[in-house]
Amino acid sequence: MTGELTVGLLGAGMIAGVHAHAYRDSPGVRLAAVADTVRGKAERIADRHGAKVVPDLYALLDLGVDVVDICTPPTAHADATIAALRAGRHVLCEKPITRTMDEARRVLAAADAAPGLLSIGQVARYGPDHRLARDLAASGEIGLVRMLSHSTTTSLPGWSEGGWLADPATSGGPLLDQAVHSFDYARWVIGSPAVRVHCMAADSDAGALTYTLTTVRYENGAIAHIECSWAHPASRGFKLRAEITGTDGQLSWDYDHMIGGVLHAHDGDSEWWDVLGDREFTHELSAFFQACRDGGPPPVPAVEAVESLRTALAALESARTGQTIDLIRWEL
Ligand SMILES: NC(=O)c1ccc[n+]([C@@H]2O[C@H](COP(=O)([O-])OP(=O)(O)OC[C@H]3O[C@@H](n4cnc5c(N)ncnc54)[C@H](O)[C@@H]3O)[C@@H](O)[C@H]2O)c1
Repeated sequence: MTGELTVGLLGAGMIAGVHAHAYRDSPGVRLAAVADTVRGKAERIADRHGAKVVPDLYALLDLGVDVVDICTPPTAHADATIAALRAGRHVLCEKPITRTMDEARRVLAAADAAPGLLSIGQVARYGPDHRLARDLAASGEIGLVRMLSHSTTTSLPGWSEGGWLADPATSGGPLLDQAVHSFDYARWVIGSPAVRVHCMAADSDAGALTYTLTTVRYENGAIAHIECSWAHPASRGFKLRAEITGTDGQLSWDYDHMIGGVLHAHDGDSEWWDVLGDREFTHELSAFFQACRDGGPPPVPAVEAVESLRTALAALESARTGQTIDLIRWEL
């Protein structure tokens, strides 16, 4: 496919603003229209980027956009993804691919039958440090990877529409909403499926199971330790620490914020965006648009995102029951 790619953005909340900024770094990509159940939020992004406001997904599809970018809460991912794929569009859907495994299976079936691409926003793979570390590990620089530690700790995010992030039935809490990035990254670096998961979690004022520590065993014998919290003091900010240890050495890095820059507007709103730090979203979106032009493959195939979802759901089950989850036998 050559020529302009038009995008319809479904959901106009926090991450949609980041995506809309990131489109600007992909030449030949135009945000055509935005839909959100809260019209004012769609208007805000549409005004900033010269796009139309439409009422819903079906109006986006009627406009004939090439790509649907789904930035709604996870419980609204499956139906929108399936409808857009069936309409023949390329779809980028934010992580986690869906809220449940039943929904994930429906999405996989729709993706298999559709002419368009489906890629999932497992953006940790696109952080320049994360990507370089993975490339170095894959090239054998630190020998055989045996252990990976990934820690993301912050306070309960406060921005979500109607507070859905604080509702475990919608977000899955930090183990699904946030640690799914770590599970996805660890699986991608280690290059082998997760086979066993054990999680311990504690409650806090931010909700049940909001301090979490998970260990994962992979088929090739490697192990990962995933620390994730929404219960750390807000004043401390978002901290990330990562270590990849192999038989010949170690790669490690850390930082205090995931996003390169924040745009503070005079009307009191603030928006995260990528441009200042050239961080992950610009890379994620440009890789996706390039794949649409090339006819595939999707940069983060749905089947890989389903594995990451399943590992996160297993961690939740382990935290709830106190049992280690054997992913080879576990049925969900
Ligand atoms: N990759 C990352 O690092 C990252 C960071 C934050 C959020 N996310 C993901 O992005 C998605 C959105 O999260 P957010 O933080 O932007 O939430 P948000 O609450 O800020 O925005 C979601 C928007 O979707 C709208 N919406 C809900 N249902 C809708 C529907 N059926 N049709 C149209 N609009 C609908 C809401 O009104 C809201 O404006 C989630 O899946 C979340 O996990 C990813």
